[in-house]
Amino acid sequence: MRRNHEARRAALAALAARPPVSGFSTPLDYLLAEHLRHRTLCWLIDRIAESGESDEECIDAVLLFLRGDFGPHVVDEEEDLFPLLRRRAGHEDRIEEVLAGLSKEHAEDRLDATAIVEGLERQRCERSLPQTLRMLLRRFAGNERRHLIVENAIVLPLARARLTDDDLCNLGRRMAARRGVAFPENTHTHAV
Ligand SMILES: [Fe+2]
Ligand SMILES: [Fe+2]
Repeated sequence: MRRNHEARRAALAALAARPPVSGFSTPLDYLLAEHLRHRTLCWLIDRIAESGESDEECIDAVLLFLRGDFGPHVVDEEEDLFPLLRRRAGHEDRIEEVLAGLSKEHAEDRLDATAIVEGLERQRCERSLPQTLRMLLRRFAGNERRHLIVENAIVLPLARARLTDDDLCNLGRRMAARRGVAFPENTHTHAV
């Protein structure tokens, strides 16, 4: 029981902690750090889905993340990382099919994320969640976990191998601008 309570606390703290602004100088590491938060999001979402009673603190943390952090991450990948990879990858990398699959999942996951936000907002003050919402939560977490495996195992390693220093600098700049923060000019993108 106590371990469960500590795991919940640690997950809430991890989800709330955005990577530091200095991380934009190594944008692939920043994306990897965001993926760790997405894993935590899945853990909390599964917990909400499995629990018979609604946990307002967990629901609020999930809502905050889905409203504020989830969208910009998908745009980082769709508008910046994937186009850069398409430009730099060779035919032998056979990445197009992988990226097309991930883009399709992005579109589906965003629809599910919107439905989850609407559903959790409606149910926030209720004692329990309806079965349809719990099924939606489980589906989203399962899909997201598979998506993260592909991005961590295939997309990020290929980006580390193919993107140039200028690419990484531009990627970090655009990610920082998307979040309205200044790009850390004094650091280098080499250490990825
Ligand atoms: Fe991602
Ligand atoms: Fe993604």
